[in-house]
Parts: sequence; structure tokens; C-alpha cells
Amino acid sequence: GRYRVISTKSMPGTRWIRLLTDQDCRVEICTQNKTILSVEDIVSLIGEKCDGVIGQLTEDWGEALFSALRKAGGRAFSNMAVGYNNVDVNAATKYGVAVGNTPGVLTETTAELAASLSVAAARRIVEADQFMRAGLYDGWLPHLFVGNLLKGQTVGVIGAGRIGSTYARMMIEGFKMNLVYYDLYQATRLEKFVTAYGQFLKSNGEQPVTWKRAATVEDVLREADVISLHPVLDKTTYHLINKERLAIMKKEAILVNASRGPVIDEAALVEHLKVNPMFRVGLDVFEDEPYMKPGLADQKNAIVVPHIASASKWTREGMATLASLNVLGAIKGYPIWSDPNRVEPFLDENSPAPA
Ligand code: GLV
Ligand code: GLV
Repeated sequence: GRYRVISTKSMPGTRWIRLLTDQDCRVEICTQNKTILSVEDIVSLIGEKCDGVIGQLTEDWGEALFSALRKAGGRAFSNMAVGYNNVDVNAATKYGVAVGNTPGVLTETTAELAASLSVAAARRIVEADQFMRAGLYDGWLPHLFVGNLLKGQTVGVIGAGRIGSTYARMMIEGFKMNLVYYDLYQATRLEKFVTAYGQFLKSNGEQPVTWKRAATVEDVLREADVISLHPVLDKTTYHLINKERLAIMKKEAILVNASRGPVIDEAALVEHLKVNPMFRVGLDVFEDEPYMKPGLADQKNAIVVPHIASASKWTREGMATLASLNVLGAIKGYPIWSDPNRVEPFLDENSPAPA
């Protein structure tokens, strides 16, 4: 291979490796037995000559790495993730490195996980499972693990991009929930879907579903029974959910986060969970991954899973393939209009940034 391409992690499937090797690339997969690579680890991987890197959201792609990559002759980096808050795109641009991400292939998989967390929280699935395994079940009772009926309740979505809209459709069609959403952009297709589905239900003699685009994040928090967060993480969405905003949510609301941990002030959330036992959360992401804030793991009203929202075989292989295509495109100098996943500084058209 004429080009040296590094992947900082082993990735699912073999198609991505074939794609790169077929196009004159020699692929090197990092063999370090360590979950999170440091900047120094990656600088030494890049070495003297490296044309492109496929990296992970756990890595800090800033000045240090992009200058090292440039020095090694590299011009391409792709995150194997749709989110790229771990990447300093301006630094990459400064060093002439193109940056890619992997949208699209993880939309459904991520939305399905957010939906799973919503239902699991509503029906207290994890608590009930732990109760069974602890040998505590000694007979049916009218009060045992009573949860929330989703039908007819309101689902709130903050950030109605690809993932947020897909999640909303799942909850509306699956559970006949009404929608309230907040986004800087109007989610026209989602609104049309809810209207059409509402008409279908009505023609069937059932209660129709409704939608509403909220003017503020607060409106969503006040009105919704289940709220799922799908914004991009940036300065405007850091601690979007804080103590004050938790306080305006319904006492029995469910909050789901499969976006990025710092969107929630996790310490404030732990306090809120402690004093509101009927308030429940489903979390896939955490403020200081891989750690949880003290007290969170003790809360029965919290479901916690280790950042697995995009973890289906099809999606992970798709992400690896897309990341490889991003790197390949930049190495081969394809014109940027044929490179849909190139990230431009300040120009991601899918960034719903709540004010
Ligand atoms: C995963 O968190 C991603 O952004 O793809
Ligand atoms: C990410 O894929 C989003 O726009 O929701």
C-alpha cells in the first residue's frame, strides 16, 4: 500500500479494511491493550508517515494531534461517531486535515436505544429484574412495580434532527403519544407524520395524536411526560438540563439521554433523583465517562448503560465503513461535494443548538 492509514481501535467487520486495502492503503490497527488512548499514545502511532487516521470519540483530537498528523504528511481524519465534540475542527483546518463523521447509519439504532430506555424507565424493567434475581418475588400484588402508561402521554424531544425525529416517530407510532419538540429548525417532515398519523387514528375511531413546536426548552420540560435529549454538544447545550430546569419538570417525568453526557448537569440530576423518587432517568452517556457522579449508581430510579446507543452490528460496521470512506476520499482528493460527511468548521447543517 502506498498510503498508511491508522485505526486507533479495532472496528467491527472486515469490509472497511478491504475498502482501504483495495485502494492502495496499508491499514494498521492499534494493538495497545488500553481502552482510552492518550494524546502521546496516538502521536507515537502516527509516527513519521501517516496519511489518514480513523479515531474514536474517547480521544482528544486537538492541536497536538493534528499538527503531528500534518507533520507525518496526513490530510485525513474521521471520527467513528456522528458526534465530534472531541474534535477541534478549526485546528484540523489550520493544519490542512479534512475531518469526517458518520451520520445516517446510526440514526435508527440510536433512536431504538433511546426508545428502549424510555420504555424500560416507564415500566421499571431494570428494578423489577433486580427484584426477581434477588429472590424477592413472593407473589402477585396490585402495587408491585406500577409504572406509567405511555399511551396518550406527551413525548418531548429536544433536538429534532435525524435521531431526535426518528425517536419521536417510534414513540408516537408505537405508543400513540403526543409530541412537543424544541429545535432551532422546524421539523417539517416530523410534523407531517404526526398530522397524518393523527388523521389515521381518528378515521379509526381512536383518539388522534397531536404535535406542537415549543418556543423554548422550558415549554417542553413543563409539558412532556417523557423527554429525550438529542442536541449536538457545544457551548450552547452544555448543562442544558440543570437544577432550575429539572425543577420545572413533572414530578413523575422520565428523562432520557443518549446524546452526550455534559448536556446534563449530572450532580444536579443525582440530587433531583434523590428527592423525587417517581422521577426516572435512562442514561446512555455521562458527564465524565467512564465515571458516574457519586450517588447515581445508588438510585433505583436511574437506568444506566455504557454508551451503547449505536451498538448494533449493522450500524457499527456501517460506521467503520463510512469512516474509512471519509479518510479515503480525503486522501484521494475527491472534490468535497462528493464527500457528504466532511465536517466544516461552524457549518454543520444538523446542529440544533437550543438558545
Ligand atoms: C456516538 O456516541 C456517536 O456520536 O456516534
Ligand atoms: C444526528 O445524526 C442528528 O442530527 O440527530
